[in-house]
Amino acid sequence: MNAKITLLPGDGIGPEIISESVRVMQAVESKFGHSFTTNEHLLGGCSIDKFGTSLTDETLADCVASDAILMGAVGGPKWDDPKAKDRPERGLLALRKGLGVFANLRPVKVHPALVDFSPIKSEKLAGVDILVIRELTGGLYFGWPKGRDVKDGRERAVDTMEYYDYEIRRVVELAFELAKGRKKKVTSVDKANVLESSRLWRQIAVEIGTKHPDIELEHVLVDTAAMRLVTGPAWMDVVVTENMFGDILTDEASVLAGSMGMLPSASLGSGGPGLYEPIHGSAPDIAGKGIANPIGTILSLAYLFRYSLKLEAEAIAIETAVDRAIVEGARTKDIGGNLTTRQMTDTILKNL
Ligand code: IPM
Ligand code: MG
Repeated sequence: MNAKITLLPGDGIGPEIISESVRVMQAVESKFGHSFTTNEHLLGGCSIDKFGTSLTDETLADCVASDAILMGAVGGPKWDDPKAKDRPERGLLALRKGLGVFANLRPVKVHPALVDFSPIKSEKLAGVDILVIRELTGGLYFGWPKGRDVKDGRERAVDTMEYYDYEIRRVVELAFELAKGRKKKVTSVDKANVLESSRLWRQIAVEIGTKHPDIELEHVLVDTAAMRLVTGPAWMDVVVTENMFGDILTDEASVLAGSMGMLPSASLGSGGPGLYEPIHGSAPDIAGKGIANPIGTILSLAYLFRYSLKLEAEAIAIETAVDRAIVEGARTKDIGGNLTTRQMTDTILKNL
């Protein structure tokens, strides 16, 4: 197969984990006889430095014209000035919006060999296999009005939690579709006791639930969901929730897996290219040291093969190689070892 893949390494550890993931991509190309065309663009802080904007029109256009996009991470202290007109994160949000990738799939699995690395008691971690589907192009991140002003002589800041019915419907429908191939259970997380947008969310979830009588639907308030993630995570399977709740809950859930560095994500829309990125950030404290865990990005690449290119065997080959590397004892610093990013990738390649 021939496919066009755009690489967006971004900032911090992004370039290190992307270049190692490209080695895995090349290994898959030769093993399975594919030929991928890759091109690379700046995104985030590095794009601000070079072009004065966190996402250029050219980068977005090239991403839209690709089959899939593999991204590293954006952000860093250098671009953290609250008064700055542009921020690295804005580029990422504009990219997600521009691609229309409204559903962000974040699987949380606990590798049996890493249970002792999580601060959660190991008996609670047995059987944890959660798929969080985070709404990605709506809610507080994008709602209008948004901004700063002075009202009645007081400085004021406004963000708006806004959802249209269709935005909720399409992501909840996807959650039900994905639940069919799993434990046939959807947990919809909201704050319907307080927020109007959550009451609309719940109403639509109920509506879609009635069309899927074979799938159990439960509603959980976000504060309770946060608690249950650490007190009884094995009880969750498919979780669907709005943008910011999903952002917060998935960082929390990553603690179950032992390290944020392990977790991949896939952002999908209706038909266009998918965006694949690890859930962790740019980790400026270890950037340039070559010690970042590449697994979150390498597993995101597996997702890219599965969802955008429909290459299931290739996806499984990568996932199996990662699994074997962990079983063999390969560990970067975040999971208690001392392998470099490159050595971890070498071990994965050896198992591919
Ligand atoms: C994530 C990140 C981003 C988000 C930031 C970098 C804008 O935290 O992908 O989870 O909040 O979506
Ligand atoms: Mg986040």
